[in-house]
Amino acid sequence: MASGVTGPAEQARILDWSRAHHRDLPWRHTRDPWAVLVSEVMLQQTQVDRVVPRWRRFMERWPTTVACAAASPGEVLAEWQGLGYPRRARALHASAQRIEADHGGDFPDDLDTLLTLPGIGPYTARAVLAFAFGRDVAVVDTNVGRVLARRHGAPLGAAAAQARADEWVPQGHGWEWNQGLLDVGARCCRPRDPACGDCPVASECAWHLAGRPEPDPAWGSAAVSRPQSRFEGSARQARGRLMAALVGGPVDPTDVAAVIRWSDVPDRAAAAAVIVDGLVRDGLVELAEDGTLVLPR
Ligand code: ADE
Repeated sequence: MASGVTGPAEQARILDWSRAHHRDLPWRHTRDPWAVLVSEVMLQQTQVDRVVPRWRRFMERWPTTVACAAASPGEVLAEWQGLGYPRRARALHASAQRIEADHGGDFPDDLDTLLTLPGIGPYTARAVLAFAFGRDVAVVDTNVGRVLARRHGAPLGAAAAQARADEWVPQGHGWEWNQGLLDVGARCCRPRDPACGDCPVASECAWHLAGRPEPDPAWGSAAVSRPQSRFEGSARQARGRLMAALVGGPVDPTDVAAVIRWSDVPDRAAAAAVIVDGLVRDGLVELAEDGTLVLPR
């Protein structure tokens, strides 16, 4: 049985592939933990090409945790505009503040402490350890989760996926190994239409060797994201429209229904109130003294 083999020959092939096909991305030129964290948070739900210019701009504006911590949450949310999922920006800013307030500005470099920071889960914590601190931990995002499940030939739960990924990391190569596997997942082990002919894992991949039977073991496996639900007419779209308007200035609560442009709901005012309540609860919007809605100050 090919799956489960963690031989040095396969590891060497993956590292060789990685060196030859490595994507030259700007966050791969730094080992600064803050810069790495910002890139990983942006990359969680946004595609690489969209992240590149936004990551550069963010790092120019707030190159350190101390700089970001001194900004208001609203400034960080405004900078984030257009990237989507603004809770990520709120948490990133809160993490910068916590690192300054609770850790004297020293970026935590152990898993348990990183996991206490807002918005930092098992994936992001390990990404910081591998990509900033060069640790031999395994980073399992949706791309790597797909590689692991297909190679194994069956869906994997979170603990099993992490354990397999951990034992696969060649000692001393954590940085390039993890960046390489992310690239294998993005370029070869694609969600649809995988390029098995180019893949350095193919000869050990149970799914490929079995002729890629349905169902694809990646679907439903740990860390592998599901296709996103429809955006048009969604609460996410409405929240995005209101956030975009707030970047321009205060919004009167009675104007929210017009701002979110939901036309075919029976009670537009009630629908608008639900959107506002959700954003207020998430700390993304505040009610100012004059009764208007504003970005948090
Ligand atoms: N997706 C998540 N982390 C990444 C990284 N470091 N490089 C490219 N894509 C990624």
